[in-house]
Amino acid sequence: MKTLALLAVVVFTISGICAVDRNKFKTCDQSGFCKRLRAFKPEKSQYELNLDSVLVHGNVLSAEVVTRDPADEKRTVLWQYAFKLSALADSTFRVELDEADPLYPRYRTQLALDGEPRPDSLKLTSNDNSKLTLVNKQGHKVVITAKPLKLEFLDQNGEVAVVLNENSQLLVEPLRVRREKTEEDGDGNQVNVEEEGTWGESFQSHHDSKPRGNEAVSLDVGFPEADHVYGIPEHTDGLALKTTTSGDPYRLYNLDVFEYELDSRMAIYGSVPVMYAHGPKRTVGVFWHNSAETWIDVVNYSDSNVVSSIVNLVTGGQKRRVDARFMSESGIVDVFVMMGSTPDEVFKQYITLTGAKPIPPKFSLGYHQCRWNYVDETDVRTVDENFDEYDIPMDVMWLDIEYTNKKMYFTWDPIKFANPSEMVANLTAKGRKLVVIIDPHIKREAGYFLHEDATELGYYVKDKDGKDYEGWCWPGSSSYLDFFNPAATKYYSERYRFENFPGTSKDVHLWNDMNEPSVFNGPEITMPKDCRHYKPTQDGEEGIASFWEHRHVHNEYGLWNLRSTHDGMMDRVDGKYRPFILTRAVFAGTQRYAAIWTGDNSAEWSFLAASIPMCLSLAIAGNSFCGSDVGGFFKYPEAELMTRWYQAGAYQPFFRAHSHIETKRREPWLYPPTTTALLRDANRRRYALLDYWYTLFYEHSVQGLPVIRPLFQQYPNDPETYTIDDEYLLGNALLIKPVTSAGATSINVYLPGNTLWYDADTYMPHTEARITQPVTISKIPVYQRGGSIIPRKERIRRSSTLMADDPYSLVVALDSNNSAEGTLYIDDGETYEYKNNKFIYAKIEYNSKHMTYTFINDNAHYPTKSWLERVVIAGIKTPPKSAKLQQGDKSTPLQMTLHKGNDVLVLRKPGASMGKPWTITFAY
Ligand code: GLC
Repeated sequence: MKTLALLAVVVFTISGICAVDRNKFKTCDQSGFCKRLRAFKPEKSQYELNLDSVLVHGNVLSAEVVTRDPADEKRTVLWQYAFKLSALADSTFRVELDEADPLYPRYRTQLALDGEPRPDSLKLTSNDNSKLTLVNKQGHKVVITAKPLKLEFLDQNGEVAVVLNENSQLLVEPLRVRREKTEEDGDGNQVNVEEEGTWGESFQSHHDSKPRGNEAVSLDVGFPEADHVYGIPEHTDGLALKTTTSGDPYRLYNLDVFEYELDSRMAIYGSVPVMYAHGPKRTVGVFWHNSAETWIDVVNYSDSNVVSSIVNLVTGGQKRRVDARFMSESGIVDVFVMMGSTPDEVFKQYITLTGAKPIPPKFSLGYHQCRWNYVDETDVRTVDENFDEYDIPMDVMWLDIEYTNKKMYFTWDPIKFANPSEMVANLTAKGRKLVVIIDPHIKREAGYFLHEDATELGYYVKDKDGKDYEGWCWPGSSSYLDFFNPAATKYYSERYRFENFPGTSKDVHLWNDMNEPSVFNGPEITMPKDCRHYKPTQDGEEGIASFWEHRHVHNEYGLWNLRSTHDGMMDRVDGKYRPFILTRAVFAGTQRYAAIWTGDNSAEWSFLAASIPMCLSLAIAGNSFCGSDVGGFFKYPEAELMTRWYQAGAYQPFFRAHSHIETKRREPWLYPPTTTALLRDANRRRYALLDYWYTLFYEHSVQGLPVIRPLFQQYPNDPETYTIDDEYLLGNALLIKPVTSAGATSINVYLPGNTLWYDADTYMPHTEARITQPVTISKIPVYQRGGSIIPRKERIRRSSTLMADDPYSLVVALDSNNSAEGTLYIDDGETYEYKNNKFIYAKIEYNSKHMTYTFINDNAHYPTKSWLERVVIAGIKTPPKSAKLQQGDKSTPLQMTLHKGNDVLVLRKPGASMGKPWTITFAY
């Protein structure tokens, strides 16, 4: 036996297969509340709304809800709750259920919302002694059945779109006083019979003291007429969520999972509790506003593995429906119901609640070069110079943890990074930037100012006994700043000031990693749940009521960390320059502060493929600025995989190569010259499209739509698109299907919408929905939709900054009506001057008679030096005889070249300034 086991270990190690150690992470059965709640299946809900208590004031209905034991004939009240239904702007409702008079306040998640949601009107239209009917301004109705409590949300056609507590799984476990309850066992001994796990539970060697006892919440949500549900990132599963009746629910608990596995519902670094349901009739969504550990069950009744008895019981035989159930360890029931009714609308509704990503600095959309680690200043300089030597554009060099003095953040290694200012100046001379890492764990070392200050001022998270919590992370013994304490946050933010972090400048940006938080020796590699966070206390709050436990806030810890960093970066430049921050932990609202990446992946084809659904799912949950470690973090990518990863990365929002410290170096020139050339080509394609990316991020910041989009968002009536997650749209104009398998010579592409799609390389149009695309190693399958116009810059330079004044090319892809349109956003790329109307947001329209460039926002201007170098019109059936450019009083005849083979007309050097409107008129 023993020899066999040993052999298995040897084989495993030799083959080098990465695999997560599942034993380190809880299954639902090992998580007290998940097991308890999953087993909670009452025949009838215990929750009843007291109709006599109903009060409608402004946009809020409030009422008392009580629980009664259904088995008790006298119907005695078990517990009282405060219920609130609010109508909110943008076709959204909010439902809150808290204890009416809890022992001490229950935690309410604090940072996810982008301010207090705006109210809408709410009118009570009927109260018939068993049901209430309410309506908002847009005509969405809410029908509340009192006994047992059920809420139905009706769309504008009067059909039920979302239903709460239909499956009786609403639960708010009341907080209780701890009492020793003992009984005599058979031998006459007094034994404690307090429910197993209520006042403490263990996992491996870790004991969670659970000082408040059980305090879980849960709710079932039904989506009639939905074909699929999406969202609740971050998981490595596909975009469309799967039925969880066999196996564990999807888990949301920010964790540092070493060598995470694919196709899994296990928790990883991020948790965004928003779910969307989509079918041909409508799209709706729910946002479960809770920062505690959360598990989510999904049942899709059209799945073949859902037994017909369940289908009949719940839906009366109707197969088109999805149910979900949210279960959280603590907090209150606080759920936003977003009524859609299209994917665009529902994605925007979520952004209305949690905020859009502000327009990022333009350089951050360029290419980033990272490695754990660039070892010293000479290494940084050599890598930087090689990008020029090999003519590969690059905007940002990165420094991982080894740049510090012994992992003490806000310091530099005195020997390897002795002259950081000079190093930074060397980069900025070429328009490049530097990103350095700052993790939230603090090395416990005597003499380290941060540790000494934090200890003295009481800024660390406390353990269950109120002492500074000590865990283990990169620096060894570490403590963790308590960002919930405003004084600690202020102190931390100030560390980013240039005088406090010498060597940095406005061109040095930040990477906050390990902020789940990661604790190598903690339960599930994170902080114990009974650790204590700062809580501003009210009069009389003491003991247990004077702090929050880590369990309440876990999933938003990283967000508090980011907000402090963000405040510090704003403060250090007096709010003048846009900060760039990368984070690994994610929660609802993270998008307001940072870009994200999918953590420690592996140089394997499957991880390349997984980066697409992972980022799509994060994008619809508000986080469009997403990418994966290009090339894979662990292991070494051979030339073909590396090439395909650069090609895919060039079309994903956050484009950064990164690798583990123990892997072989892999900068683009370390591959054979043919591969280097392919990597160069991928980067150059990225830079050519940078202004399209920038325009999309601007549009996201004002309109809230994802930058990368699943096909069903744009084509919601085409069921074929519902489960496609290996291709996606960039804005509404480009369709991308990266090659993600070895040795591919062709791939199948689905081109939706019954419209023309042009191959972005050849401008050859495709009319069929399903094509087989031949792919050589240099081919990146990208298609431009007929009817769209895309801005490009063709003079690729060393960095995006150096391309700011370069001329534009416009690629016009005609639809079957010979028309097309697009937009272009231009500003200085780095400041907030756009808020003072220093920008251009232009619409570009083409029909066979004219092509026009006009400003959407007339009040805004930007003195760009860029001009119009070329117009490429693809799909031209009847070419014009002549074309004339008009700008102001100036009229210029244009030179044209017609490429007959692919029906492309090129207007050469129109020369118009992009700082003012212009018109091109065609004569036939
Ligand atoms: C974590 C990060 C990784 C980084 C490493 C060292 O594993 O996910 O990107 O290189 O820490 O800082």
